[in-house]
Amino acid sequence: MNKKKGFFIETFGCQMNDLDSRKISGLLVDQGMTPAVSMDEADIILLNTCAIRDKAIQKVYSRLGELKKRKAKNTGLFVGVIGCGAQLEGADFANKTGVVDLITGPQKISHIPRMLDRVLTERVPLIDIEDEPSPQPAEVENILRDSSFRAGVTIMEGCDQSCSFCIVPFTRGRAKHRAGERILAEVKKLAESGYIEILLLGQNVNSYQDPSPAGLSFAQLLRAVGEVPGIRRVRFTSPHPMYFTHDIIDAINQRPTLCNHVHLPLQSGSSAVLERMNREYTREIYLEKAIALRASPRRIALSTDIIVGFPGETEKDFAETLAMMDEIRFDSIFSFKYSARPRTAAAEFADTVDEAEKARRLRVLQEKQELLQEANHALYVGQVVEVLVESPARTRFALSGRTTDNRIVNFDGPNYLIGSLVSVKITQARANSLQGELVAASELELAAGS
Ligand code: 5AD
Ligand code: SF4
Repeated sequence: MNKKKGFFIETFGCQMNDLDSRKISGLLVDQGMTPAVSMDEADIILLNTCAIRDKAIQKVYSRLGELKKRKAKNTGLFVGVIGCGAQLEGADFANKTGVVDLITGPQKISHIPRMLDRVLTERVPLIDIEDEPSPQPAEVENILRDSSFRAGVTIMEGCDQSCSFCIVPFTRGRAKHRAGERILAEVKKLAESGYIEILLLGQNVNSYQDPSPAGLSFAQLLRAVGEVPGIRRVRFTSPHPMYFTHDIIDAINQRPTLCNHVHLPLQSGSSAVLERMNREYTREIYLEKAIALRASPRRIALSTDIIVGFPGETEKDFAETLAMMDEIRFDSIFSFKYSARPRTAAAEFADTVDEAEKARRLRVLQEKQELLQEANHALYVGQVVEVLVESPARTRFALSGRTTDNRIVNFDGPNYLIGSLVSVKITQARANSLQGELVAASELELAAGS
């Protein structure tokens, strides 16, 4: 293989895909390849794709259209499509665009260097979307991380649930759990290298069950990660409500390093819709979990995912989702129009909601949430909060970071603060972010004493 070639991975989709891209980058660098600074500079382009909604697939087709023009001028350009979108579309990505050299899914990331090598040597396109039989997620020693203070860590992959709308069990396969000692060894190594925030990742993260003799439950693993010296913040995503047990709330209460934020996808506030979604809980069961979270002595922020326009969702069902939002007052939500996915059970359901109605419901829901968030954020004005400074802000402020309960805080300060924990006094609140001023050490002491 021509090791001088520069590679560039464009990532679509979720945080698991993002971490996969970092793992693949590490594997390619181990092979002697060089990361390119941009797609324009690269000879090898990999699109790490998502399949969750049809829009995600269409984005890839449009990128492949652009790359086709580029390849006409540079015939040496290598284009690979990997990830969940590739697993779903398979050969279609190659056949419909005529530009793709490699297609493989998210279960095969550790084979990508070998596959790349083969295609570059033999000059024959390769498609491999067989399910990976290994019972364990791929172990990657040298992950090429893009942050020096925050790191995603895989604890499990795949999913054994059968939510009727969801493509993930088909793209990422059956659930595979990583050994607890391996996870903890990775976290210790990260802490020793200066990482302070850990994001535990899995498609159904709280169904985690350690396959090694230690047999840690998810809550036990969470506690153990929170106790690793040097680790200041631990997050996890995404849990399933049915596996959301009280011991997770207890752990968050007892370990200040475990962030007081839980993202717990609701999907719908109507039990009838939840049943057709095959979510295995009712409106009442979700409410019980939300009330338990809200009753926690340490306030725990709660965010969620909601799908509007699922087949058969009536006005009354939708009104139940809105009522649930009033009842729970989520700290934030991600909301989506239902998109039928091939191979899923719901793709066969009749009684679809038309696009205009889906768009209307989405708008109503988002406007409601905005009001709830504005009211909630107003309570923060005047408070001093701890912020992990993450990046230069996209607003008129210099810096942006997050509180432990996952609120975005924008404020002015020097760039060298990126990656550290600082105190910020909140001066203004918006629906989606807070604004504040860096608190000088002396003021902090005063605040602590008062
Ligand atoms: N259509 C719309 N949204 C979906 N999600 C998953 N599948 C679909 C689909 N077919 C949403 C769910 C999930 C989030 C990651 O994406 O809300 O929690
Ligand atoms: Fe997209 Fe789901 Fe795959 Fe993530 S796991 S990339 S959200 S399909």
